[in-house]
Amino acid sequence: MNDDSADANLRERIPTAIYSTAKDASAVVAREISDVICSRNAEGNSTVLGLATGSTPTGVYQELARLHKEESLSFAKVRTFNLDEYYGLGPTHPESYAAFMERHLFSKVDIPSDAAVVPDGTVPREEVSAYCESYEKSILEAGGIDIQVLGIGRTGHIGFNEPGSGRDSRTRLVELDALTRADAAQDFLGEENVPPYAITMGVGTILDARKVFLLAWGTPKAAILAKAVEDSISEALPASFLQEHKDANVLVDEAAAAELSRHRHP
Ligand code: PGA
Repeated sequence: MNDDSADANLRERIPTAIYSTAKDASAVVAREISDVICSRNAEGNSTVLGLATGSTPTGVYQELARLHKEESLSFAKVRTFNLDEYYGLGPTHPESYAAFMERHLFSKVDIPSDAAVVPDGTVPREEVSAYCESYEKSILEAGGIDIQVLGIGRTGHIGFNEPGSGRDSRTRLVELDALTRADAAQDFLGEENVPPYAITMGVGTILDARKVFLLAWGTPKAAILAKAVEDSISEALPASFLQEHKDANVLVDEAAAAELSRHRHP
């Protein structure tokens, strides 16, 4: 790590740590998650994780799987809630986030299958709103999210909360931004195959988590990351709402940090 919030440029409104590589930063996040799980396990208590998909968190999941295998980190008492799912995709669809989570984490650790929850993208349209309410209720009944892992989209979304999403938004059906669909086009072999809608936790749901890690890697994320961290809070950039969170932490690699003021005007 080169720096931390103590002497970072004052324009940063969320504590931001810059790492040489995404791998280094991912190891730090995985270790923090593992420490919480271990201390909860020792007390006989469960840990509730809020999880993200996409390329950003895969290094964290890889490291958690390694800790499970090599250091006996047990997920037997962990419960997880994923941020979002494409509407219309079931868990057997390879691009569904349920399938993604199975591939990258759930199949590699000892989490009970009913404790690893991804929003159900196959709920009939007329039942979606009741389903979203029940998703919120399940999180509360589990005791609330202890640690939320987040990526950031080039629109500034967290989960699928695209620009225009309010501070108090909750789990709901949303329409994806054109840029988000363009960014997903490769995975779906063409933008026309990317589902237009998704179910996502809301900004308010995310802000209720007790601790949040927002991760960003690579040059394509540099501009939006700097805005989320340094500009005023706005619905036009949903990730900026994390500035209101008491324990939100941004971890970036050098490339994603490039547009921060401390780099542009050192
Ligand atoms: P990515 O997506 O991890 O694939 O870059 C992040 C996001 O859209 O939240």
